[in-house]
Amino acid sequence: MLMDYEGFKKAIYELTGIDLGSYKEKQMKRRLDSLINRNNYSDYEQYVNALKTDARLYNEFINYMTINVSEFYRNPEQWENLKNLILPALFETTKTLKVWSAACSSGDEPYTLVMILNEFLPLRSIKVIATDIDKEILCKAKNGIYNEKSVGNLPKEYINKYFNSKDNMYEIKEEVKNCVEFKHHNLLSDVYPQECDLIVCRNVLIYFTEEAKVNIYKKFNKSLKTGGILFVGSTEQIIMYNNYNFRTFQTFFYKKDRDL
Ligand SMILES: C[S@@+](CC[C@H](N)C(=O)[O-])C[C@H]1O[C@@H](n2cnc3c(N)ncnc32)[C@H](O)[C@@H]1O
Repeated sequence: MLMDYEGFKKAIYELTGIDLGSYKEKQMKRRLDSLINRNNYSDYEQYVNALKTDARLYNEFINYMTINVSEFYRNPEQWENLKNLILPALFETTKTLKVWSAACSSGDEPYTLVMILNEFLPLRSIKVIATDIDKEILCKAKNGIYNEKSVGNLPKEYINKYFNSKDNMYEIKEEVKNCVEFKHHNLLSDVYPQECDLIVCRNVLIYFTEEAKVNIYKKFNKSLKTGGILFVGSTEQIIMYNNYNFRTFQTFFYKKDRDL
């Protein structure tokens, strides 16, 4: 009997540790079916077998399913709010911040965080933990080289201050790279960093099922200090934020009131 999508999800979990069942099915299945067709495989089982031996195919699969689109200063008005409203409020009670950029993709987001934090702190006092499930994209993030489009939204003074540019490419300066610790991390199954003052997790929860999201919000509550802030993406407002002991601080920013 041919392997169906259920069997495929099981086989992928065994092979990669990634639970496709936690991602919205219609969207994910459509993407993966088109990838599989494009590689000229006609059924799931053949494709899974090929993934076991073909590193190019395996990396392509991980890349494709994870959707790595990112850019610096994505949705500028929210970063302005972070700079002008959220960080000043957080710095009222502490001198340093523990910051986690979850699902950081190519590093645009954690490096943006460093630039904004540098308005308040010297670079040597800034540490951002940045995590993603995709090991290849983490290598790109550590390399820190970007095209013009990636930095298109970033204020010019940040581009001049934090990059070396050559031939329309932009390389993050070493002293900014040193502020970010990149780590492999699966939001669905790994232990979360603790005692965070700020968690930035944007444009990944949209891909997850409701059930997976509920678990992640609960884990974010545990990860944050009381009074800590969760910064989400523009299409990711948390409807039942009370359920996780969050309250709205600003649109797209939630403050933890107490432990669950
Ligand atoms: C669309 S990007 C968002 C990047 C960035 N946060 C932003 O908003 O620009 C989604 C990222 O989520 C990561 N991702 C997908 N599933 C994940 C999981 N289970 N755990 C951690 N990261 C995951 C992908 O590898 C990808 O880099």
